[in-house]
Amino acid sequence: MCECNSCRTMDIKTPRNVYLTAFYKRSFAFYTVKNRMPIILTSLIDNLVRSKNIIVDQYGKEAQEELKTVIGELSEFKYEIQTNKPLKLLTSEEPDAKIYNEYITTLTEQDGQPTHFHTIWLLTECYMYRRLRQIFEQTSLLNTYDPFCGQKENAYRTALPLIRQMGEYILNIVENSLDANMEEFISLLKLNLWGNKCDLSLSLGQVEDHKMLFNTTALDPFILCDHSRKIWEAVSDTSFSYTIIDIVLDNSGYEVFTDLCLADYIISKSLASKVRIYVKTIPWFISDVTTPDFKWTLEQLKDNGNQSLKSLGERWSDYVERGTWQIMESHFWTLPFEFTYMAKVDPILYRQLAEAKVAFFKGDLNYRKLFGERNWDPATSIDDGLQGFNPTKLCILRTVKADIVCGLEEGVAEKIEAQDPKWMETGNWGLIQFTDKIVQIDDNVNC
Ligand code: F6P
Ligand code: MG
Repeated sequence: MCECNSCRTMDIKTPRNVYLTAFYKRSFAFYTVKNRMPIILTSLIDNLVRSKNIIVDQYGKEAQEELKTVIGELSEFKYEIQTNKPLKLLTSEEPDAKIYNEYITTLTEQDGQPTHFHTIWLLTECYMYRRLRQIFEQTSLLNTYDPFCGQKENAYRTALPLIRQMGEYILNIVENSLDANMEEFISLLKLNLWGNKCDLSLSLGQVEDHKMLFNTTALDPFILCDHSRKIWEAVSDTSFSYTIIDIVLDNSGYEVFTDLCLADYIISKSLASKVRIYVKTIPWFISDVTTPDFKWTLEQLKDNGNQSLKSLGERWSDYVERGTWQIMESHFWTLPFEFTYMAKVDPILYRQLAEAKVAFFKGDLNYRKLFGERNWDPATSIDDGLQGFNPTKLCILRTVKADIVCGLEEGVAEKIEAQDPKWMETGNWGLIQFTDKIVQIDDNVNC
């Protein structure tokens, strides 16, 4: 047991096959709950203090009092995490808060009250962002305020040189020929994978320079599992006349730009009739895309002095207006559930994904949810790890930023571990994974 009275953790690595939790002191979950989450809250408070005048200008003088209350509540919440207090039930009236509360209550009945270090990492980390939302939601002037908006905008601006380079490349491809080809598609897939290095939650809100992300050939040795060809076969299957492809987005800035490049390729080469783009409904893991972020990005592109970006902004806004691209919102993405529970918790969403020819899932958090937040043997098959979550063919693109992985060839994880002991925490290694197993759900399944 840890000496520190507040966390009472075990000084061991996470055993195989159990849930990731901060209870195991030699895990990334422990490091996150102990250090990263409090740092994220501290810098959020600092940003709010620094932005006080801007907020008052925008929301009025009365917002100053609300800001004080918000800052007080954020500090209290940080203290709850640091002292390993139980997760308080949410007081929000929103339907998703009810689902969080039912889950916390069920866990309490099973094992006693979940506390920040002693519960599933996925729950405590998702809860943090839901609790932040609640703090703003319960004000009257700041209830739509996104506390991460400035960081997301800054990340976009910093990535502009890379975005320009990528923009010129993709515009040339989508405007100049109607035919898709495998090499082009795979190169876009890899650009898209490495775009996932740019998340602000791992970098603790720091915007990093990612110039090298355009040179995907140099990054090929860092792809631990590459199912690109199988993905190409699934995406280029044109046996049906009307098809949908789904993309479950992750981060704003450069990553979402690469997602939209892929979505444009899919439409302009007639690989699908429609792309549905799933966003978050609340500010999430600092950099995840919400509907306002999505719209802001298109507006920024349209206003850019670079002709290629301007053309892409107009082209993409037109896709949205015509419904060729559809922005999809669902609370499920910000619930603390592994996707194996989707069929039960949100059967409508499961069936919706089942309509798609393939669904792309981006990023580390989606990966944790896809594979049930467990410390699998890395050679566990993709379908075993998914535990029945197979609504359609899945394309999973993620840079590794948490200690969970499935679907590697025997021996690969051990080899990388010897070469780079922190390989699961840096985002330097990537996965392009695919499964074509499909499990339909019974029509009688209800919420
Ligand atoms: O594991 C590090 C981390 O910040 C997690 O907290 C979270 O799962 C993830 O990275 C966010 O990354 P992504 O934006 O790729 O989902
Ligand atoms: Mg993210």
